[in-house]
Amino acid sequence: AAVVEHTFVVSQVNMTHLCKETLVTVVNGQLPGPVIEVTEGDSVAVLLVNKSPYNITIHWHGVKQWLNCWADGVPMVTQRPILPNHNFTYRFNVTGQEGTLWWHAHVTCLRATLHGAIIIRPRDGASSYPFPNPDKDVPIIIGEWWEMDLDELDRRMRNSLFDDNPSGATMNGKFGDLYNCSGAKEDGYVLNVEPGKTYLLRIINAVLFSEYYLKIAGHKFTVVAADANYVNPYTTDIISIAPGETIDALVVADAPPGGYYITALANQSPKPDPQIPKLVTRGTVWYSTGHVSSNGTAPPVAPEMPDQHDTMASFYFHGNLTSLNDTQRLLVPERADESLFITVGLGSICRRGQTCKRSGNNESILVATMNNISFQLPDMSMPLLEAHYYHTGDMDMLQELPDRPPMVFNFTDRGLIPWGPKEGQLEPTSRGSLVRRFQHGAVVDIVFQGTAVMQSDSNPMHLHGHDMFVLAQGVGNYDAARDVAKYNLVDPPVRNSVLVPRIGWAAIRFVANNPGVWLMHCHYEFHFSMGMAVIFIVEDGPTVGTSLPPPPLEPACNHGHHVVPND
Ligand code: C2O
Repeated sequence: AAVVEHTFVVSQVNMTHLCKETLVTVVNGQLPGPVIEVTEGDSVAVLLVNKSPYNITIHWHGVKQWLNCWADGVPMVTQRPILPNHNFTYRFNVTGQEGTLWWHAHVTCLRATLHGAIIIRPRDGASSYPFPNPDKDVPIIIGEWWEMDLDELDRRMRNSLFDDNPSGATMNGKFGDLYNCSGAKEDGYVLNVEPGKTYLLRIINAVLFSEYYLKIAGHKFTVVAADANYVNPYTTDIISIAPGETIDALVVADAPPGGYYITALANQSPKPDPQIPKLVTRGTVWYSTGHVSSNGTAPPVAPEMPDQHDTMASFYFHGNLTSLNDTQRLLVPERADESLFITVGLGSICRRGQTCKRSGNNESILVATMNNISFQLPDMSMPLLEAHYYHTGDMDMLQELPDRPPMVFNFTDRGLIPWGPKEGQLEPTSRGSLVRRFQHGAVVDIVFQGTAVMQSDSNPMHLHGHDMFVLAQGVGNYDAARDVAKYNLVDPPVRNSVLVPRIGWAAIRFVANNPGVWLMHCHYEFHFSMGMAVIFIVEDGPTVGTSLPPPPLEPACNHGHHVVPND
C-alpha cells in the first residue's frame, strides 16, 4: 500500500461568472478542488496550508477513520480549527472501503467552494470490481454558485435572516448554456465519449441545500455503488442525490453518435414562495466517431426532467437501492441494543432568556432540532475529543439526547404542530450541547421522523465514523407495529448518509464500534448551522483497548482559540 500525499493550499481567488467577479475560497486555485485518487488500503497525508482569512478544517466525508477520530476534521469536536497562516497535516487510511467519497471544509458554509472527490479503487485492479470494467472514471460534482460571502451566509442563517439563494447550479464547476452573461453563454461541462465504451460516473452532491435529479438524454445509468458501498446493479434513467451523498453509476455510450445533455435539476420541496428559482445546470455528452467530434452539427438532445417539486422520484430511487451481498461486510445484526426515535424539525427560541411571548418576530430565532433540542457546541477551551480522551474539561455541560421526542403527535400533519415556529407551542424548544454515549459495540437503531414544519424538507442525515444499514423508509408517521415488518435485514444499503424523505421517516441500524467523538447531522448546511446535530460518543472497547492514540502532531499555537458555530 502506498502513501498518497497532497498539499492543499486554501486561498481566495477571483472567479468571474454571470458577468460578476466573485471572491471565492478554494483549494489550489481550483473549483472543484483536487481529486484524491487512491487504492484501497493506501494511506493519505494531506498538508493543509491555510492562506485564507478563515479558520479551516477539512472533513473526509465517508472515510471511516477507524481508530483515527483525530483526523475527522470537525472544528472543536475533533480538532482545533486551522487558523489563517497556519498548517496542519491530516493522516488517515482508506482500508476496507471502495468507491467514491469526498472531502469538504467543515466550517461555516465554506464547503460550497472547498470540496473535491475521493476515488478509492480496488486493490486488485479494475478486474476486481463486481461489475464490468469501466473504460474511464468520470467525477461529476454538482455544486452551486453563491455570490455572497459564505461566512456571512452562515451568520445570516444562525440569526434567522436568510432568504438567500445561490445564483446558479454547476456541474464540475461549470454552469452550462442555460446561463448567460449579457447574451454570452456560460461554458458547460463536456464529457467526450467513444461509442461502445463504458464510463463510471462518480457523482457527488456538494451543494448546501438541495437534492438533485440527474439525467442524460438517450442513456441509462446502472447504479453500482452508493457512499462507497457496492449495491446490486440498479438500472434507471434518473439519479437522485442529496447533499453529502455519492453515487457510482455506469453509463454505456450506446446511443447513436451525437450530443446529449447531462442535466442536473434541484429537487425542491414545495415552498410557500412560488418564486423560488429553478436551479438547473447542464453539460454535454459528445460522441466522437473516429477522431472527429460531432459537435457543430445537430444541437444536443435534452432529457425530460421531472418537475422540480417532485419529491417522490427521490423516494423511489432511494428505496430501490439494495446492498450487493457478496462480502463478509454485510452482516446485519438481528436486533438492536438501543433504539432511538428522533424527530428532525424546526423550532424557535428566544434571543434573550425565555422571556419572549411570541415567535416569528424579532424576539425569537428559528433553529433546527432533534427531539425539539437544537445543538450548540459546548463552550469548552479544547476540542470535545480531547476532553473525552484525557478525561478533562467540563463534560457536565453536555446534554444527553433523549430517546424520544417530548411528546407524540401527528408529526406529518401541517395543522398539528405542538412545537415549532408557531405561536401557542406546547413544548418550548431548547438549546443544548447534545450528545449520546454508546458502549463499544452497541447495536443502535434510529428511526428519524420528519416533521411537517415550515417547508417540510427531506433531511439527509450523515453519520461520521460509521456506515449504517438503511432498513426502511416510509411516507407519513412511523408506526412500529406496522413498520418493523418492513425492515430489510437481508440486503439493506450501507450508507454514511440516510435520506429521511419529505414528510416521512427512515430507519437505520449501525454498530457503534469505532471509538471516538462523532458528529451526526443533517447535511443541509442550513439545518446543520441552525442546530440539527448531535454528537455520538463511542466508548473504548475491551478488544481495542485504549484505542485513541493522541495525534502525532497538534496544530501549534492554536491553543485557546476556537470557533463557536452556534454563537
Ligand atoms: Cu460531509 Cu459532517 O459532513
